[in-house]
Amino acid sequence: MELANSLKRIKPSPTIAVTNKARELKLAGRDIIGLGAGEPDFDTPDNIKQAAIAAIKRGETKYTAVDGIPELKAAIAAKFKRENGLDYKTSQVTVGTGGKQVLYNALLATLNPGDEVVIPAPYWVSYPDIVLLAGATPVFVQARAQNGFKLQPADLERALTPKTKWLIFNQPCNPTGAAYTRAELKALCDVLLRHPHVWVLTDDMYEHILYDDAEFVTFAQVEPKLHDRTLTMNGVSKAYCMTGWRIGYGAGPEMLIKAISTLQSQSTSNPTSIAQWAAVEALNGPQDFIEKHNQIFKERRDLVVSMLNQTNGISVNTPEGAFYVYPSIEKLIGKTSAAGITIKDDEAFVTALLEEEGVAAVQGTAFGLSPYFRAAGRSLQAHSTVLR
Ligand SMILES: Cc1ncc(COP(=O)(O)O)c(C=O)c1O
Repeated sequence: MELANSLKRIKPSPTIAVTNKARELKLAGRDIIGLGAGEPDFDTPDNIKQAAIAAIKRGETKYTAVDGIPELKAAIAAKFKRENGLDYKTSQVTVGTGGKQVLYNALLATLNPGDEVVIPAPYWVSYPDIVLLAGATPVFVQARAQNGFKLQPADLERALTPKTKWLIFNQPCNPTGAAYTRAELKALCDVLLRHPHVWVLTDDMYEHILYDDAEFVTFAQVEPKLHDRTLTMNGVSKAYCMTGWRIGYGAGPEMLIKAISTLQSQSTSNPTSIAQWAAVEALNGPQDFIEKHNQIFKERRDLVVSMLNQTNGISVNTPEGAFYVYPSIEKLIGKTSAAGITIKDDEAFVTALLEEEGVAAVQGTAFGLSPYFRAAGRSLQAHSTVLR
């Protein structure tokens, strides 16, 4: 059978591919340190697990409203008010099977062939492919290391055209850990105010994973005039250690939220009922473990940054948030690894790293900025249990 033309435009997620390769080597008996997958290595807090168990026992095991139970939508609206000073009615909130589905539905529901979507690079691997699947065109803007991997207002302005439909924005950033101050975000808002046809899809997935007392701010909060053309996307995967539960959410104008729900009603229907109840507890319950986890992530960050910067040929910025480092290997290009692999690019580098040293990381090409690689922060003591 011939596959759909739309599928020819996309590729499998490179981060999942690296994780699979590392898993294969591990099954073959190699001792592998998996720094490829982007998830916390902490277990889901017990109060959240107990809420799921209670939901099963109560019989919350049936279909729910397509885009989320009212209790979870209320918890999300309360979270936006409490943490971001944002007012959303529950009719302006949608719940999906992970933040990824919210993003996917929003793009599929709004993009037409010919539309452009501005994506700062390096970017999270899925943005360009979802845009391509929708038949639209990703327009990349480099966010360079010398600017702390942050999108510069003038570069954003240059990338906008009458065809631009969305800016997809993510901070703290996967893969660089860059986080924006209020003033930096305001400068980007000012550009967008001059282009009223452009919408913002802000991916705030790493909101809670921030270091050194940095303040998290988001578009609709910094510039209320953008509130009605912003989809604020977030989820419980990272901060609440719930990657496997598959709950993410978004808030924005009602007509967009309705369109997302229509699309979801013809694909997955509701996210898992039990996971939704767990997410209610995550958002409404105690939040103190987040700070404890951040302290551990910060210790790991400081250690890995200092060790990488002492390594010949590798240099790295100190990430302000998230749990990744994005080191440059520019000075290693053209050199040869111990087993004789020529490091011609970052893909050859991560191949040598995995095959020769047993360390799984992801090549910078996957994120749109080379020659770099991304390593995710996790405990090395726990590494043998990570790749199950
Ligand atoms: C920047 C970013 N956005 C969205 C997601 C997707 O999160 P979820 O697990 O909620 O689908 C991820 C997961 O890696 C991510 O890194």
